[in-house]
Amino acid sequence: MNDRIRSLADYKAAVEQSTIDPEGFWSGIAEQFQWMKPWEKTLEWDFDGPDVKWFIGGRLNITENCLDRHLEQRGNKLALIWEPNDPKERFVRLTYRELHEQVCRMANVLKRNGIQKGDRVAIYMPMVPELLVSVLACARIGAVHSVVFCGFSAQSLADRINDAEAVAVLTSDGMFRGNKEMPVKRVVDEALEHCPSVKRVLVHERVRWAVEMKEGRDAWLHEELQQVDANCPAEPMDSEDPLFILYTSGSTGKPKGVVHTCGGYMVYASYSFRNVFQMEESDIFWCTADVGWITGHSYMAYGPTLAGATQVMFEGVPTYPDAGRFWQVIDKHGVSVFYTAPTAIRSLMAAGLDHVLPYSLHSLRVLGSVGEPINEEAWHWYKSHIGKNRCPIVDTWWQTETGGILISSLAGITDEKPSHAAYPLPGIQPVLLTTEGKEITENEVEGLLCVKFPWPSILRTTWGDHERCRQTYFSSYKGHYFTGDGAKRDAEGRYRIIGRVDDVINVSGHRFGTAEIESAINTAKGVVESAVVGYPHDIKGQGIYAYVVTEKPLPAGDVKAAENMRGEIIEAVAAGIGRIAKPDKIQFVSGLPKTRSGKIMRRILRKVAENELGSLGDTSTLLDPAVVEEIKEGRL
Ligand code: WTA
Repeated sequence: MNDRIRSLADYKAAVEQSTIDPEGFWSGIAEQFQWMKPWEKTLEWDFDGPDVKWFIGGRLNITENCLDRHLEQRGNKLALIWEPNDPKERFVRLTYRELHEQVCRMANVLKRNGIQKGDRVAIYMPMVPELLVSVLACARIGAVHSVVFCGFSAQSLADRINDAEAVAVLTSDGMFRGNKEMPVKRVVDEALEHCPSVKRVLVHERVRWAVEMKEGRDAWLHEELQQVDANCPAEPMDSEDPLFILYTSGSTGKPKGVVHTCGGYMVYASYSFRNVFQMEESDIFWCTADVGWITGHSYMAYGPTLAGATQVMFEGVPTYPDAGRFWQVIDKHGVSVFYTAPTAIRSLMAAGLDHVLPYSLHSLRVLGSVGEPINEEAWHWYKSHIGKNRCPIVDTWWQTETGGILISSLAGITDEKPSHAAYPLPGIQPVLLTTEGKEITENEVEGLLCVKFPWPSILRTTWGDHERCRQTYFSSYKGHYFTGDGAKRDAEGRYRIIGRVDDVINVSGHRFGTAEIESAINTAKGVVESAVVGYPHDIKGQGIYAYVVTEKPLPAGDVKAAENMRGEIIEAVAAGIGRIAKPDKIQFVSGLPKTRSGKIMRRILRKVAENELGSLGDTSTLLDPAVVEEIKEGRL
């Protein structure tokens, strides 16, 4: 069986088969991979547990499928084109043979440093080839990687390391980002003051800064790599052994470690990648996400390598040295499939066409969007000015928890409609539910987006706390995986994602829980309490609006005092989470609108932040209705 969908008829047939016989459908696809031992049973599942297992009893190593499997046919094909932050620095190219060798060497370094199968390894590295190599090296030896995005603070890194009890950290001395050089190792050092489980730190040299190396704990990667050879057989893994943990924010408390396992994740990352983007052997794929997010896992580290594709990895930012950088890189490397986030599109759109017109962009064939709803204006700009009206746009909806794209048009195969993720992939059974949990079967409706049947890369658990996984995703609506998103379905059955229905804010495609930001704000000196909501933001999609109650009222008209307090709050968020989560607006208030039982009325705060002052609803049940007037008047 061939898993490539090449026509609308193929798509329809795949949807039908996957609905009638999901196990037969997925086992047919899984057979195309290299297994050390075939699976005995395709699927066992129970969403109440939850307990989902795919390809039970099978043994494999995902890196054999990403690398070894390609050596014969694609050994000399480029696997990676790495474009550095500074356009004047030389770019790096690695063939599949070279990538294989580097991964094996890195894997041997891990082993030499005592890291074993099942151990957790935190990776806190900028977008350098060594990051991709490190991820695959962990998978090679069966260590569970937990990549932490380099924009997170020492505190966040420490929380994630401790939650997973990681034994080692892979990092770099520093990083280049636009016109800045930033410390990386120093953040790790600060985090590790509170991480007793970490025994080893391996440091990649990127910016050549003098960093402190702790005797007995820290080693330079380039020195370690000289001590090993390139022979590293892949560790046999059970299909259901964990492959990685990736922390993500939810509506309550601290981020949770979403766990993906080896077999199912491999099958779905590859299947979705090849079909959504309609990948051809000669394509050059570029996903601009960071490996620190799920997009960088499924559509950089794994999807493209599983498919034997050539991909670009970019160290820098879209606006350095100017807002034409993405387009310059596309021309420079002949990128044919380009995958980015609406927030980047909007900010480059705002920079003006002068940055686009110097580039031909003729190599482009398919465009993709991910991470947040893409508004129609940005969609049309992307379509006409980047795709020159020749390239299909795939608006891909998915989540850290889903492991791969669940709803998207397939490039050039199923039709597209601006701002609509469109159709479920074969094997995916989404439903819309009412808040009472009743399935809405008609079209032209809106509801809560759930999925009623498992797919191979659904999350298996949240690390160390299975109950939390059950509660968050499987308890709201019995027998369903609940996504936390609201969606509409149009007359033709296309889905349009509206956004989160829980207390999660999506800022530039990055997920934050309001509770998480509030607890960081509350650590600032002089803050009594706070409430955070999202509001529409032209570039970021959503901005962060914080209402803060201070111990002492800020003297009216004292601009300086308010500025200082704002600075304290921003620093508290930078320290607790990272600069990426800093509030866009901070309004000081004397109190928050609360019900008599003490619950904060977020609905009101959201309306004020959205400037919908006329529709605040009934405020008479509030403990102190007067506070609403004050909040309305002080709106920023
Ligand atoms: C949102 C990113 C609209 C959604 C892959 C989801 C989207 C959350 C889209 C997951 C899209 C992602 N259209 N909204 N195409 N893609 N989202 O875990 O709210 O970082 O629940 O995964 O992003 O974010 P995450």
